Order: sequence, then C-alpha cells, then structure tokens
Amino acid sequence: MTTTAPEVHRGLAGVVADTTRISTVIQETNSLTYRGYPVQDLAARRSFEEVAHLLWYGELPDPARLRDFRARERALRPLDRTTSELLARLPETCHPMDVLRTAVSLFGAEDPTEDDGSPAAHRAKSLTLLARLPTVVAADQRRRRGLAPIPPDPGLGYAENFFHMCFGSVPDPETVRCFEISLVLYAEHSFNASTFTARVVTSTLSDLYSAVTAAVGALKGPLHGGANEAVMHMLDEIGDPGRAEEWLDGALAAKRKIMGFGHRVYRHGDSRVPIMQDALDRLVARAADPGVTRKATLHAALREAMLNRKGIHPNLDYPAGLAYHLMGFDTPAFTPLFVMSRITGWTAHITEQLAHNALIRPLASYDGPRQRPVPAPE
Ligand code: ACO
Repeated sequence: MTTTAPEVHRGLAGVVADTTRISTVIQETNSLTYRGYPVQDLAARRSFEEVAHLLWYGELPDPARLRDFRARERALRPLDRTTSELLARLPETCHPMDVLRTAVSLFGAEDPTEDDGSPAAHRAKSLTLLARLPTVVAADQRRRRGLAPIPPDPGLGYAENFFHMCFGSVPDPETVRCFEISLVLYAEHSFNASTFTARVVTSTLSDLYSAVTAAVGALKGPLHGGANEAVMHMLDEIGDPGRAEEWLDGALAAKRKIMGFGHRVYRHGDSRVPIMQDALDRLVARAADPGVTRKATLHAALREAMLNRKGIHPNLDYPAGLAYHLMGFDTPAFTPLFVMSRITGWTAHITEQLAHNALIRPLASYDGPRQRPVPAPE
C-alpha cells in the first residue's frame, strides 16, 4: 500500500490557523483594519490609549470611558521597589529585550490576583502590563546611560509620560505625535509570529504572563520585531548615502537579509509604511540638521536600491527604526518600544484564544531515519 506524503507548509505559510475578530489585512486594498477601522484613520485621529481600548473591548471608548481608562492606566505605572531593585541587578550586557522579558515574568510572579481566565481578569492584568512596561523600558535606558530613573508623571498621557521618564522632558507635539503614530501602527497585526506564540501558550491554558513572556522572546528576533533595531545598525554600517547601492549589492551577493524589507503577508508593500514614512518625513523636515538630512537621504537611497534590485518593499520597521533614532532613543531600546505597543494586540488575542480555545498542536512530516533496532551496548 502506498501512502502519499502529507503536504508540508513550512513556516505555516498560507495556513489559516483560526478565526479572529481583532484585525485583518485586506489584500485587495492593501489595508489593515483594527476591529473594522482602517489603521491609517486611527493613526490620524485617535490616541494610542483609545486604540488599546478598541483592541481589548471591541469599541472605541466614549469620553467618560476614556477618562476612566486613562485614570486607571496612570495609577498603575509605578513599579514596586522589589521589582525595580531586581531589574537594576541584571547585567548591563544583557539586551533590553531580556530585561523586558524578565520584567514580565516578575510581574507574573508578584501578581496576587487569581487568573480565573475570565476576560475581566485578563483585561486588568493587560492594563497593568500596558502601564508598567514603559516604566521598565525608560528606567533601563537611563540605567545604561548611568542615570537614575525618573518616576512616572500621572499628569501626562501615555506617550508624553514615556518621553518624560526617558529624558526628563517632553519634546514638541509633532515628535510626540510621531511616536504615538508608531504605537498605533505597531499595536496589532493578526497572527504574526509573536502573537501566534502568545496564542500557542494560551491554548495550553497557561497564564497570561507566561504567554506574554514567550511573545516578548518571539518578537526579539531580527526576522520579526528585532528588525527595527537591526535597521539602525545597518544604516550605521553603510554610513554614506553614496555607498547604499554598492553596500546593497555586496549584502545581496552574500545572501544577507536586508533588515526592514519584505513581509510574509504583504507582497506589494506594507500598508503601514506610508503613514509612518510621512511622520518620519515631518521629523526630518523639523530637524533641519545636515546630519539628520544625510541619514534620511541614505534611508531613501537604500529603499530605492532595494526596490530596483529585488522589487522588495520596506516594512514598518524601516521608517520606525530611523524615527526612533531621531527621537533620541538608544538603538537597543527600539524593539522594547514595539513591545510597549504590541502588548495590546497580544493580550487581545490571549483573551480571544481563551474564549474559543483549542489546543494548538500541528503535525510534522517525519523524514528522519527509518525505524531500526537499538544495538546492544558495547
Ligand atoms: N532581504 C533580502 N531578500 C529578501 C528579503 C530581505 N529583507 N525579504 C525577502 N527576501 C527574498 C528572499 O531571499 C526570498 O528570495 P528567494 O525566493 O530568491 O529565495 C524571497 O524574497 C521570499 O522571501 P522569504 O524569506 O521566503 O519570505 P518570508 O515570507 O519567509 O519572510 C521576512 C518574510 C522574514 C519578513 C523576510 O522578508 C525578512 O527576513 N525580512 C527582513 C527582516 C525584517 O525586516 N523583519 C520584519 C518583519 S515585519 C515586522 O515584524 C513588523
């Protein structure tokens, strides 16, 4: 009897693993919607807090709900002393994503509230993570610069407070808006690798913190969220706009992946890029600094060269990486900024997974040695 080998979908490419009501990429129009709303309209008209509410509750908040949501987020921002001390003891040689992964794990260990798997319990834990992760990211960046942490300011919005905790001041509204746009765009993207990781962990009925800890680990890799950091290292490596084409030819000949380009889902360009690029262009124009103009010229030259050589478009990490650099963040802190946003999408998916759970457990097509007898020990 002959058996046909099962079809293998490496990387689960093209596999529809479940349904979701949270977001979708509409291939025909190359657009992304969160709960049905086009992301470019959310980025233009709504705050990140409103988008977080939309992802978790399915609807944008009315003014009273938004006030309440903001008040609760602001109250949850401070870290307790033990957490701060434990995180401050981590070696400075470890990556900021390792600090964040450890922080999420610690939050889980110290959370006394029961995880009964209910949406209400999950939303309370999700809000705590949303509020506290920026405090960890800011304190870690300052520690690496030899500076003491700055406590959160409950009088400031989510984005403004983060700048305040990082730098001790809030920049001009255009810079804050550019950062907020990046948070809205990074918030959610269906079954991407880190979200799927969170869903896999949740599908075993493990707890929310374990799922988020695993998701942070998945996001760290340069083929996923780590690409925004890698984009900046790549631009630094190239240095001169005039070298972009020559550098790219060498990198492609060496079979290197060009960071910030390509996407599993979008084949004709990431729908989020024009919005982020536009925000980046405004930052560059405001800076009116020859060093900034030079970096922007290099950024554009590499994008053109990649399109000409390979026909591959940039993804969101390409404009976001340079934007974060121009905002003054340290390059290793870029992927943690992605976490501060994607925590909303991850936790929305964790709640959704539990609402109609099925253990995620695919099959593998075995191509190892045929069955054979175990030899007697010599
Ligand atoms: N640089 C060079 N070649 C590329 C790139 C790239 N960035 N992206 C795709 N290609 C090429 C591949 O080499 C392959 O060519 P081949 O058919 O001649 O072998 C072809 O395009 C298809 O690429 P795959 O890697 O098979 O596409 P896949 O869907 O598996 O990968 C991925 C998508 C991982 C994002 C890939 O494009 C990549 O590695 N990009 C760089 C890392 C990056 O920017 N990641 C961020 C993703 S978006 C996000 O997380 C917000």
